[in-house]
Amino acid sequence: MSEFQRINAELHAEQVPLADLARDHGTPAWVYSRAAITRAWQALDDAFKSHPHQFCYSVKANSNLGVLSVLAELGAGFDIVSGGELTRVLAAGGDPARVVFSGVGKQAAEIEQALEAGIACFNMESATEMQQIKAIAGSHGVKAPVSIRVNPDVDAGTHPYIATGLKENKFGVAANEALQLYQQATEMAEFTLCGIDCHIGSQITEVAPYLQALDRLLELVDKLGRQDIHLDHIDLGGGMGIHYHDEAQLDLNDFADAVLQKLQGRHETLMLEPGRSIIANAGLLLTRVLLLKENEGKHFAVTDAAMNDLLRPALYQAWHQVVKVNDKSADGREAQQASWDLVGPVCETADFLARNRELTLAEDDLLAIMSCGAYGAVMSSNYNSRTRAPEILVDGKEAHLVRRRENLDDLLALESLPSRHNVMGEEAARQGGRKVKS
Ligand code: LLP
Repeated sequence: MSEFQRINAELHAEQVPLADLARDHGTPAWVYSRAAITRAWQALDDAFKSHPHQFCYSVKANSNLGVLSVLAELGAGFDIVSGGELTRVLAAGGDPARVVFSGVGKQAAEIEQALEAGIACFNMESATEMQQIKAIAGSHGVKAPVSIRVNPDVDAGTHPYIATGLKENKFGVAANEALQLYQQATEMAEFTLCGIDCHIGSQITEVAPYLQALDRLLELVDKLGRQDIHLDHIDLGGGMGIHYHDEAQLDLNDFADAVLQKLQGRHETLMLEPGRSIIANAGLLLTRVLLLKENEGKHFAVTDAAMNDLLRPALYQAWHQVVKVNDKSADGREAQQASWDLVGPVCETADFLARNRELTLAEDDLLAIMSCGAYGAVMSSNYNSRTRAPEILVDGKEAHLVRRRENLDDLLALESLPSRHNVMGEEAARQGGRKVKS
């Protein structure tokens, strides 16, 4: 089932024709379906209903306020990795008491911001970070709720750039070190120990790595229990893979059954930090074919979307399905059947959205690049001084513009010409900054 369906020849987002969105908002544009987000969230929630759980949507996958507000209304918690993401969650109506803060390099101001907001838990990733949080909580006279992110040294079987649970990855601490940190933390008045955490990677398509990781966590939890250190939650992270192409798919019910079996009879709340599995298939990138060209038998369709919009194909050789918005003939325009490389206008050979796709294309065709809701808009940039695309959230018959297209004034707004005089200003110079000569 998909919320992106054809009605006659026209691809729709829920009940809104994509061609209408392109006409009203231009292309490229990101389009999300509220119903698809809701369905993915509820399926996950349902699959685990027999055990106490709190799932925290991983904001990094798509941090648009409109998207976050849908999840906040569904009662989601949020997994954040920066003060910026916390600000977004609060602006979207998210509950700070359901926020967990992950990441290997939290800054002092971000730790303060999170303590002030009253988040549920800091997932600490090193001994140094533990000391940092201790000092900041101490100086504010508050207790920091903490968990330790364990690196279980498990191979998630995914792209090397998005594997995080191997000992050579920068994330978390080894099980033995975690044990020592828990022992130390339990003696510290600045902490409330609330859980244990891991995240082994992203786009994981098998259950086995999760079970291995869970075994390692449970072993630790039980060791701690014998030392009278009791934890309230076990956070297995995110990473649940989706169906992009012909890869195996993680079956949600198999995954839930296997995890729940291991948790049978245990009191700890299960936490997950799903990002991609909630939002990837709920979004697409709408783009228009600018022109078709052939170089020595190789066919290129140049689209108005580029690697600055969707970076995943260039960065991870990711495969996204490409479909025509109107699959009828090109109403008079000259169409050509070929194996196309879809490329953008950016000056890089890595600027491709898809390669070798059998399609019948005409100039001006509208295309949808599917499964782009996760790690699409959030990873886009202004490379080549291209403005970032708008984001549209469709809800039934309605389309809400939840981020407008950037314009050229936005692009220049933060920049200025160098002054002929003192660039750093007197104050900065007094504080030890170097004065720039005029
Ligand atoms: N929790 C933590 C601590 C994470 O680092 C991540 C993702 C998640 C949860 C959510 O994982 P998900 O359920 O979305 O797989 N840009 C890459 C993906 C990077 C994932 C980074 N961490 C891509 O486009 O495939």
